[in-house]
Amino acid sequence: MSEISFSNQLESKINLLKSRAKKIKLGEVAFDSNLLVAPMSAICTAPFRVLMEKLGAGGTVSELISCHGINYGNEKTRKMLELHPEEKNIGLQLFGEDPEAMAKAAIVAETYKPKFIDINMGCPVRKVVTKGGGSALMKDTTKLGNFFAQMKKAINIPLTIKIRTGWDAESINAPEIIHIAKEEGVEFVAIHGRTRTQQYQGKADWDLLERIGSDSPLPIIGNGDLHSPVLVRERMLKTNCQALMVGRGCLRNPFIFLEAFIDEGEDIAFTPSEYWEIIQLLKDLTENHTDKERTHLIQMRKHIVWMAAGLPNVAKFRSMVFQTPDLADTMKITEDYFLSLETAQKDINPHETFMAGGHG
Ligand SMILES: Cc1cc2nc3c(=O)[nH]c(=O)nc-3n(C[C@H](O)[C@H](O)[C@H](O)COP(=O)(O)O)c2cc1C
Repeated sequence: MSEISFSNQLESKINLLKSRAKKIKLGEVAFDSNLLVAPMSAICTAPFRVLMEKLGAGGTVSELISCHGINYGNEKTRKMLELHPEEKNIGLQLFGEDPEAMAKAAIVAETYKPKFIDINMGCPVRKVVTKGGGSALMKDTTKLGNFFAQMKKAINIPLTIKIRTGWDAESINAPEIIHIAKEEGVEFVAIHGRTRTQQYQGKADWDLLERIGSDSPLPIIGNGDLHSPVLVRERMLKTNCQALMVGRGCLRNPFIFLEAFIDEGEDIAFTPSEYWEIIQLLKDLTENHTDKERTHLIQMRKHIVWMAAGLPNVAKFRSMVFQTPDLADTMKITEDYFLSLETAQKDINPHETFMAGGHG
């Protein structure tokens, strides 16, 4: 349990904005809002997921976890299954190409008490795809009924999938996969609006996601390029999808799930000192979750630098962070930097390319 609590001012803003979110159910899975955190490898670890839930995310999904790593009893992989006691609406995401191995791993994953098990069917990374996992699963739909059925039979909690729109522009088959998933009792489908071939190029195809959302037999979570609270809010107001997932957007703006509920003309903003508050909480959570000091430093550095994006003199601050070899000193320069900024607001271009790579 973390000992850090937020200032009254931050706590009351969080509570106000959180109260505007509507609780939803996607199939049998309940979430606190229709805005969820997208799974991201080496990022959606338990500490970050807890922080996001505290900051208004309706639910989260773990980073992708290898079914073979679980089945071999690999210690590092098993550690990835561990939840934080404060997490609520969490799904564990597994990847692999073989339904039997996936079903076996899902039985183990279920014992860690997530709300649902998610299958990664969107990872475009060569190492995963050449073995037949990730987005390669979308290529041969004839195998999917059995794949889903085996996993579904193995577990007592809901099964969900995260896919892309198709393998390439000539094989957009998300609707077909959704129908197979429905037949086999999958609860909902999250879709990253790009094909595998696109990787992270171009734009997520929201016209397609909206068409899929409008006549899908299963609840759809739309995902891709919702990098700012304004983009999230605009989409939320008009979407046919039952929920939205935000990935990269919450790295540079961890308040994105709350800010999406700020009404037009309303004077609510999160200050640099409030960023400093959440950085301290994340440090605390990460410390309790990580055995190695070096890993803790690396984890914190990347989050601190992402969270500073768009603030004044950030380039200089970033290089100082990367030159500081120790966590205590890193925290000290971070405190000095954020507290010196007083009421400065962030200036981020949500359309510029940011982290064009990942496992889904
Ligand atoms: C660094 C990184 C890691 C990712 N890891 C995963 C993953 O483990 N599982 C997965 O299904 N998707 C993964 N993704 C894809 C995201 O969940 C999401 O579909 C994608 O980033 C598009 O959403 P966004 O534009 O909001 O970031 C990853 C993306 C990034 C940038």
